[in-house]
Order: sequence, then structure tokens, then C-alpha cells
Amino acid sequence: MNIMILLNIFLIAHLAGLALMAGTTVVETVTFNVFSKSLRNEGGPSLSLLNLMDKMGALLGIGAALLIISGTGMMIVTHGAFAHQIWFQIKLGLILTIILNGFLVGLRQMTKLKKSLDAGEKANDVIGNIKLFHLAQITIFFMIILLSIFKFS
Ligand code: HEM
Repeated sequence: MNIMILLNIFLIAHLAGLALMAGTTVVETVTFNVFSKSLRNEGGPSLSLLNLMDKMGALLGIGAALLIISGTGMMIVTHGAFAHQIWFQIKLGLILTIILNGFLVGLRQMTKLKKSLDAGEKANDVIGNIKLFHLAQITIFFMIILLSIFKFS
């Protein structure tokens, strides 16, 4: 197959993964804000919103897998042409940060929130942490997109 066509196929998969992962992060942020407001106004947690946010984890995983597989595919097709460029190295660092932030901060804080709610506590600190976590993820996504498009060197 022509190399240009292969590169474009990977690029389409890459952008699909980006749309899925970044889109899900934004929707999760909005859902969490509605959830935290309902917690304040209605007194109890909305279980359906909690379930919905749990389901979003799978979409995030599919988006991340698409991004990583297609990104690796582009690296192979271009024989690692970008590997030594500074924008790409910073991009990889930011990708690692997004993944670590997701597992070490996001997942942990959500587990902590569920435990606090089960114990009947208010959990205001955890809610604040999760809002900051979402803001950080969206900011990092934005930085990765800027770097990938402008390819600063
Ligand atoms: C959060 C994860 C990621 C995001 C948001 C992201 C986003 C993007 C965007 C917006 C582009 C520009 C497409 C264009 O120029 O038309 C791009 C290009 C690229 N990405 Fe990613 N990417 C991610 C992960 C990865 C990973 C994990 C790799 C490699 C292992 C990778 C490798 C590449 C390469 C090689 C290009 C350049 C393609 C070209 O210009 O020919 N990306 N990425």
C-alpha cells in the first residue's frame, strides 16, 4: 500500500481517538459539575450520574488505545522521523502526564468520593480536587493539540 495512504489512515484513526478521548473528558467534566450541584441542592448523590461517569472510563480507554496505536503506526511509517524533534518529546511527556494524572489522581479521587458519600460525609475537598483534575486534563489536551499542529522546534 502507498505510504501516504497508510499515513492518512493512521491520521484519521488518530483524530478519531482524539475526538473520543478529549470529547469524553469534556462531557465527564460537565457531568461531574451537574453531579456536584445536585449533591448540594438535593442532599444525596445522584446514582445514575455516578453510573454514567463510570461508563465513560471505557470510552476514555478506547480513545486512548486508538491514539496510541495510530500514533505508533505513524511513527513506524515515518521511520521515527519525529522522534528527535523537541515538540514530539514534550508531547510524549504530556501524554505520560495525562495518563498518570488519570490513574493516580482521577481514579483515586473518584474512589475516595464514593467512599465518603457512602459514609454520609460531605466530601467538599474531594469534589474540589476532582474539578481541578478535570481542568488539568483539558489544559494538557489543549497543549498536546497545539504542539502537534504547530510542531514548534
Ligand atoms: C493524548 C494523546 C494525543 C493527542 C491529543 C494527539 C493529537 C495529535 C494531533 C492533533 C496531531 C496533528 C494531526 C495533524 O497534523 O493533522 C497529531 C499528530 C501526530 N501524533 Fe499525536 N496525539 C496523541 C498521542 C500520540 C501518541 C501516543 C503518538 C505516538 C506514539 C503520537 C504520534 C503522532 C505523530 C507521529 C503525529 C504527526 C503526524 C504527521 O504530522 O504526519 N500521538 N497528534
